[in-house]
Amino acid sequence: MDAAVSAVELRKHFPRKQVGQNLLSRWFRRRRTEQGAGVAAAETADAPRGDTDSDVIVAVDGVSFEVKPGEVFGFLGPNGAGKTTTIRMLATLLEPSSGQAFICGHDVTASPTEARQRLGAVLAGDRSLYWKLSGRENLEFFATLYHVPRHEVKKRIDTVLERMQLADRADEMVERYSTGMKQRLSLARALLADPPVLLLDEPTLGLDPQAARNLRELVLELKKEGRAILLTTHYMEEADLLSDRIAIIDHGKIIALDTPEALKSRLAGERVFRLEIAGLNGSADALTARVPGMNVIEQRRDEEARTMHLTFTLAGGEADTARLWQAVAAGGMSVLNYSVKEPTLEDVFISLTGRGLRD
Ligand SMILES: Nc1ncnc2c1ncn2[C@@H]1O[C@H](COP(=O)(O)OP(=O)(O)OP(=O)(O)O)[C@@H](O)[C@H]1O
Ligand SMILES: [Mg+2]
Repeated sequence: MDAAVSAVELRKHFPRKQVGQNLLSRWFRRRRTEQGAGVAAAETADAPRGDTDSDVIVAVDGVSFEVKPGEVFGFLGPNGAGKTTTIRMLATLLEPSSGQAFICGHDVTASPTEARQRLGAVLAGDRSLYWKLSGRENLEFFATLYHVPRHEVKKRIDTVLERMQLADRADEMVERYSTGMKQRLSLARALLADPPVLLLDEPTLGLDPQAARNLRELVLELKKEGRAILLTTHYMEEADLLSDRIAIIDHGKIIALDTPEALKSRLAGERVFRLEIAGLNGSADALTARVPGMNVIEQRRDEEARTMHLTFTLAGGEADTARLWQAVAAGGMSVLNYSVKEPTLEDVFISLTGRGLRD
């Protein structure tokens, strides 16, 4: 088998009871039931989907994909899409409800030790570093835990500290590290055992721009060394820049999986228009009726500024553009701002999911 990571119809359900056992949430549930039809509208965007009264939260809903050695595979999706849950299952930290996952051919459920020996993971918001130990002591502790051969420990630790630019602060206690330094130490720890597979959950979160750039360069170096890298991110540019292939995940399902170029070419030949229109009465409908080839991506009201923001693609050439401006004039709309550009991954994402990544 040549895939370094593979997931086959991977699923994870969480029992809803865990989140609904206290008195307050029971009262909320009873009240929602009494209100009947209003329930759906009252659900927040972050609330689990589907049948809200079912006993489970479906966090990951049958995802399948493979990551090859030397490949960076990006997992892109909004909050609550199921990215971390997928990574935790691959990292053997969470048992799948169904489906299978393999790290270098080792089943994460049947042979977790073998799988774990071949992967390094950095999880978002990981608190498992020892704050009262120095960076170096943390690495010494984990080197023992990961069975790094004794005669190699010192050399490996020096190498990863150097690589993560922590060498000069290695002997300070971790509680004195900044967020970015702790993040880099987590990555140093993930690299200790020299694993062929790296699972990185939002690796640039909390890093300053320079540190984030260094980390992106490091990811590309690690890829060149032939490692398989699965990374999650909210940042489109990051996914676009680093990934050989991207899976767009939403509500626990992969809704698109392709190279960044192929994803963008879904909107190829089209130009993306963004118009900001004064007042809240403007609507895309008035325009689509008059402009063939116009495809609305997003329509957003800014109540505070009392403006409408329309984002849409337009196929055709000059003639369609002329029709667009005629329709704007005919609809009595006053355009405050506009831009025209090539489609980005963000536009593809919005056109697939109906919302932005950070909504
Ligand atoms: N331990 C848990 N118990 C119950 N529900 C959980 C648990 N962990 C995650 N969930 C739910 O599973 C869904 C997916 O969460 P997950 O953390 O995988 O999303 P994510 O894509 O990583 O989001 P983010 O971008 O915010 O990190 C969410 O609805 C979340 O509330
Ligand atoms: Mg997450």
